[in-house]
Amino acid sequence: MNTHREVKSVWRQVSSVSGDYRLRSLEFVLGEKTTKTHYKEHGCIYKTDLKKAYFSPRLSYERLRIAKLVQMGEVVVNMFAGVGCYSMSIAKHSKPKKVYSIDVNPSAFQYLQENIRLNRAEKTVIPLQGDAKAMTENKLQNIADRVIMPLPELAYEYLDCALLALKPQGGWIHYYNFEYANKNENPVHKTEAKVLEKLRLLCTECNVYFGRIVRPIGPRWYQVVLDIHVQN
Ligand SMILES: C[S@@+](CC[C@H](N)C(=O)[O-])C[C@H]1O[C@@H](n2cnc3c(N)ncnc32)[C@H](O)[C@@H]1O
Repeated sequence: MNTHREVKSVWRQVSSVSGDYRLRSLEFVLGEKTTKTHYKEHGCIYKTDLKKAYFSPRLSYERLRIAKLVQMGEVVVNMFAGVGCYSMSIAKHSKPKKVYSIDVNPSAFQYLQENIRLNRAEKTVIPLQGDAKAMTENKLQNIADRVIMPLPELAYEYLDCALLALKPQGGWIHYYNFEYANKNENPVHKTEAKVLEKLRLLCTECNVYFGRIVRPIGPRWYQVVLDIHVQN
């Protein structure tokens, strides 16, 4: 706090991320006893409560990478939007038609709505509260050029919903996974093999154009992303 004068309070993370809402336990260390904060990233500003909604600055590079892939006029579905960091980056750095942004956590959804107003993205970013499966099935079928799936725990199970959201001619899926890999294994290739096997059962043609390790998350465990193009 002496070095960074803008820091008002310090908390220590005392559990890993868990539960449906992907939250972590925090222990108070110093300063004001609040977990509500502001965060700036890639020209956007976010309000959040670190106890009530998922948040990670470590995905910053990945969010901008995806934002820069979005072409003018695209319709994007963000299936696990949190407080809106992918969605707002896309609205800010590309010219999408709409970014439908779903989250099941009521607190994350409340901040998502607030962040849309703060970043003046009301015309582009459309917040939807609920389960991504129900939302895509009921409201978002055949509308998307691109689907983002930034929840490794559910992405495999919800792949069929991502296909449902894509336009009939197909489009892009950004697929996130946690993968274990031995010394002689490549976590990106392992993820690719599993996902392509499932996708090829569900649709006619799909190809992985890019994949990378987003970050290591433990000994031999990695977060991986694949950029997959699907032709229905
Ligand atoms: C890992 S966080 C990603 C948040 C955001 N994309 C980011 O970069 O900060 C995953 C989010 O998915 C939400 N979530 C969990 N299960 C869900 C479901 N079935 N449908 C929609 N959202 C869900 C959680 O509440 C959480 O906010």
